[in-house]
Amino acid sequence: MAGETWDRVPIEAQSVAAPLSSAAIFLTVTIDPGPENAATTREVIADIGGIVRSVGFRDLGGRLSCVVGIGRAAWDRFGQASRPSQLRDFVPIVGERHVAVSTPGDLLFHIRAERTDLCFEFERLLLAQLEGAVTVVDEVSGFRYFDSRDLLGFVDGTENPVGASLAEAALIGDEDPVFAGGSYVVVQKYLHDLGSWGELSAEMQEHIIGRTKLDNVERDLAAGDRKSHKDLTTIVDDAGIEHSILRDNMPFGRPGAGEFGTYFIGYSRELWVIERMLHNMFIGDPAGAYDRILDVSKAQTGATFFAPSVETLEGLSSADFDRLT
Ligand code: HEM
Repeated sequence: MAGETWDRVPIEAQSVAAPLSSAAIFLTVTIDPGPENAATTREVIADIGGIVRSVGFRDLGGRLSCVVGIGRAAWDRFGQASRPSQLRDFVPIVGERHVAVSTPGDLLFHIRAERTDLCFEFERLLLAQLEGAVTVVDEVSGFRYFDSRDLLGFVDGTENPVGASLAEAALIGDEDPVFAGGSYVVVQKYLHDLGSWGELSAEMQEHIIGRTKLDNVERDLAAGDRKSHKDLTTIVDDAGIEHSILRDNMPFGRPGAGEFGTYFIGYSRELWVIERMLHNMFIGDPAGAYDRILDVSKAQTGATFFAPSVETLEGLSSADFDRLT
């Protein structure tokens, strides 16, 4: 596994399984109209490993990594012969009380490191190369909050798949051989109403999340209980097989502006798994019994991308210019 080399050389681009970090930047851009802008962007991202090496090698312990995700419309503009089988736009979900909005985004850059300055420097060099070809539509700097807590105060990330199950859950396999090693990525930026959340008892909060707050232990559903966030996002198919995803949520915020948020990011081998989780959260299971996390958390953005393997990413630049749009 690539992790063995992380102390020797920088982390390879598109390492979905790169380590959890103390800092992260989630950068979303749209590609400006015209084949020349598609061409510039394609060249820059195909060689993104060069920027990771330039910045990452200056402090290997800083564990800089970057994963690029490509949206459906952008993929089509890159003039490729085929498309990942499940790549589609984020479809808004309109629940009784809450809406999962769909917002613009051609490319997502998920930049992680142990040091904020490494993330910053990487983003600076990246945007200098992309200048004139893209427009930044969203930029969020996240930070690790104590023992990996979200701003609602709960430890977030515990039930991520481990060992061999990680790749099994997050990376495409033989079912789509041309795109094997890639991953579908869904992001949503949430803003919290911490005042209302703070008015709930700790017991009610635990009920909503499905784990205890202090020591992070799973709580089981009692008969007649409304499903918790944990229950609504546990997906079991008709054959009884559970389908996991890989998450790397980050808190972000500006207390001075009253802004407190969670940036949700999920990687999955199969896009339907994340879509089902979102359906359960926003529509409810059963319908109407939506995720009460949403009563204090409003989704501001929502977008879907495909993060190709590094080989597929490097190969993007081989399509002829006249196939670009
Ligand atoms: C406001 C945004 C969100 C917050 C604050 C949040 C927080 C949490 C917390 C505290 C846990 C329990 C610990 C853990 O296992 O990580 C959790 C679990 C989980 N969340 Fe979220 N989450 C958010 C949004 C989402 C979204 C949008 C999805 C999927 C579309 C999602 C999927 C999951 C999954 C799959 C689990 C693990 C369930 C299990 O197997 O136990 N979360 N989340």
